[in-house]
Amino acid sequence: MINIVLFGAPGCGKGTQAQRLKEHYGIEHVSTGEVIRGEIRRGTELGRSMERYISEGKLAPDEVVIGMIGNYVAEHREAAGCIFDGFPRTTVQAEAFDRILADNGLKVDVMIDIRVPEEELVRRILLRGKDSGRADDASEEVIRGRLDVYREQTAIVSDFYAAQGKYAAVDGLGTMDEVFERIATVIDALEK
Ligand code: AP5
Ligand code: MG
Repeated sequence: MINIVLFGAPGCGKGTQAQRLKEHYGIEHVSTGEVIRGEIRRGTELGRSMERYISEGKLAPDEVVIGMIGNYVAEHREAAGCIFDGFPRTTVQAEAFDRILADNGLKVDVMIDIRVPEEELVRRILLRGKDSGRADDASEEVIRGRLDVYREQTAIVSDFYAAQGKYAAVDGLGTMDEVFERIATVIDALEK
């Protein structure tokens, strides 16, 4: 099983590229943001407790997302591979993730960091916000707050994987096809 952590700031293209990688490599895709939004849409107790974090652009509590991923990994351990999109987002999550994978006889193969300048991120998210219906896309203030959270709490997670020799950065500017090619080059080099 090949496990890829797709990393990068809000709006860098994680979801877009994960969809393509999923089809190209025949692997699974899980986005913790999508899982949480699904719980909110269904009006579950968990969803109701997560609504405020999402709409304010704050991180959900580590134990909640770690629990979600723990269940997901246990249910998908027979998959050919998986793209983890938006997880881990803190060092606590990264450490727990290594333990969860090890308990299932698995490991992270690579973290791929999609790098995009902040002004382009804001532009992309504002554009998407016109019809995404996502509460956290609605105002520039919340979008900039999400970028602050990324810089202050999440960016450092790349050091965790760099220390394990599992970090690769790709330029996230250019067309979606160009970015896809850059990511696929990193993955194909792994399989050799
Ligand atoms: P999450 O759902 O993960 O959102 P995010 O990280 O803010 O990222 P986005 O989904 O907004 O962007 P993306 O990188 O997927 O880019 P996309 O492909 O859509 O998290 C949301 C919230 O959930 C968090 O704030 C937090 O509250 C909570 N949460 C989630 N995970 C958590 C965790 N682990 N711990 C704690 N809390 C957690 O692309 C963006 C736009 O750009 C699209 O419109 C797309 O069409 C366009 N685009 C893509 N590529 C290109 C390109 N090359 N050129 C031009 N436009 C492009
Ligand atoms: Mg996304």
